[in-house]
Amino acid sequence: MADEIQNDLAEEPPRVEPPADRGQTTNRRGALKALAAASGAIYAGALIVPVARILAPASSGASGKARWIRVGRLSDVKPGEPKRVVVIADEKDAYTITRDQLLGSLWLTRKGDEVKAMSAVCPHLGCSIDINADKQSYFCPCHVSKFSLTGEAVSGPSPRGMDALDVRVVDGFVEVDFRRYRQGISAKEEVG
Ligand code: FES
Repeated sequence: MADEIQNDLAEEPPRVEPPADRGQTTNRRGALKALAAASGAIYAGALIVPVARILAPASSGASGKARWIRVGRLSDVKPGEPKRVVVIADEKDAYTITRDQLLGSLWLTRKGDEVKAMSAVCPHLGCSIDINADKQSYFCPCHVSKFSLTGEAVSGPSPRGMDALDVRVVDGFVEVDFRRYRQGISAKEEVG
């Protein structure tokens, strides 16, 4: 079972990049819904928690503009121990900001001070990718796709490996340029 990242980001200032305009703000009803959805998506006890508060465009930002989301402390990602985190953030469209939306989840791995991130969304049909008990590979329970620890597709119907995401470390926190990619195709094509 993957360990849980203890996230106390609620006390950290929100990291927003680029700065977003404040518009009409919706209420926080999304918070419980998002967390409930996250719980349902977590398979076989891969516990998660990190919650990042940022303003993310409602679109995926296929324009290529980075949207860095703080997802946890570097110190909570132990070398050789993949960690799963969920990404919850405020989403913004032209007129409104919707609080605490579940954007997805991802796997973090660390080697020395280098951190890598891969989306937990299966490239086949979008189920949630989990890690095997020996922590030496990942699998998708829906149609039994298997992935190596570095994300390559090993077996099963997934048309490509796990989608890597850009990562940076800022002030001891891991930040990810969170994006979504089209499912069911071999190319890694961002969803707009
Ligand atoms: S959705 Fe993952 S193998 Fe089908």
